[in-house]
Amino acid sequence: MRLIIQPDYERASRWTAEYIAKKITKHSKQQAGKPFVLGLPTGSSPLGTYRELINIHKEGRLSFKSVRTFNMDEYVGLAPDHPQSYHYFMMENFFNHIDIDRRHIHILNGMAADIEKECSLYEEAIASEGGIELFLGGMGSDGHIAFNEPGSSLASRTRIKHLTPETKEDNARFFNGDKTKVPDTALTVGVGTVMDAREVVIVVNGRNKARALRAVVEEGVNHMWTLSCLQMHPKAIIVCDEDSTEELKVGTVRYFKNIQHEFDKI
Ligand code: GLP
Repeated sequence: MRLIIQPDYERASRWTAEYIAKKITKHSKQQAGKPFVLGLPTGSSPLGTYRELINIHKEGRLSFKSVRTFNMDEYVGLAPDHPQSYHYFMMENFFNHIDIDRRHIHILNGMAADIEKECSLYEEAIASEGGIELFLGGMGSDGHIAFNEPGSSLASRTRIKHLTPETKEDNARFFNGDKTKVPDTALTVGVGTVMDAREVVIVVNGRNKARALRAVVEEGVNHMWTLSCLQMHPKAIIVCDEDSTEELKVGTVRYFKNIQHEFDKI
C-alpha cells in the first residue's frame, strides 16, 4: 500500500484527479477500443477529485468517452431524482459536467423490487466489462469502505447492508442534519468486489478520519475496519491530507513521505 500525504484537501484532490486522468489517457492510447472501467464513490471526500477531473476535462486534457463507471452504493428506497440519492449526487457533481455516454454509467437501483437479483446482476455487469480497472473510494469515520460497515465479511460481494448509527449520524448532514431521514439500508458493492479491482485509490481527509486511518494503516487486517483489506491488495493507494494523519506515528508519516520523495525523483 502507498500512502500519499498531501498538505491539504485541495492538493490531495488534485493529486488524485491527475493520477486518474493519467491512467485513463494512458489506457486509451495503449488499449484503444477497450473501455476503461472506473469504480466511483459518493460522499464529501471525492468532491474535490470530481471538481478537478471536470477541470481537466474542460481544459481538453481528458475525455470520458471510453470510460464505463460503476458506483459503489445507493440507498434503498430513494428514487434517482431524490436529491439525497447517490444517482442524483453523481449527476450533479460529476456526470453532468463531462462527456461520458449516459449508457456507460452504472449505479445500483435502490428501488429494485428484487434486491438480490439487482445485486447479482451488478456483479455480472462488472464482470462482463472485464472487471474494474481502478476503484476510487472514500472511507467512513469507522473505517468502512462503500457501505461495508464494521464486521462485514472481507470476502463480501454486492448486497444489502444495514447502516450503523455512526454512519447514519455522519450522513445526516446531507439530510438537513436529521438522522431519522437517513435510510436504514443501502445496496453496496462488497469488500471482495473492491478487492477485485486491479487498482484501488482512496481519498481520506480531515481529523475525524484520523482514528480510522491509523487502524487501517498501522494495525492488522480486521473486519472491524473494513478498509484495512487494502493491506492485502497488490495495488492500493491512500491519498490523504495532513489533518487525517494526526493519529499516525511520526515514524509512519516520515516513512511514507520518504518513499514519496523517492517516487517524485523518478
Ligand atoms: C458513506 C459512503 C462511503 C463514503 C463514506 C464517507 O458511508 N457510502 O462510500 O466513503 O460515506 O463519506 P465522506 O466522504 O462524506 O466522509
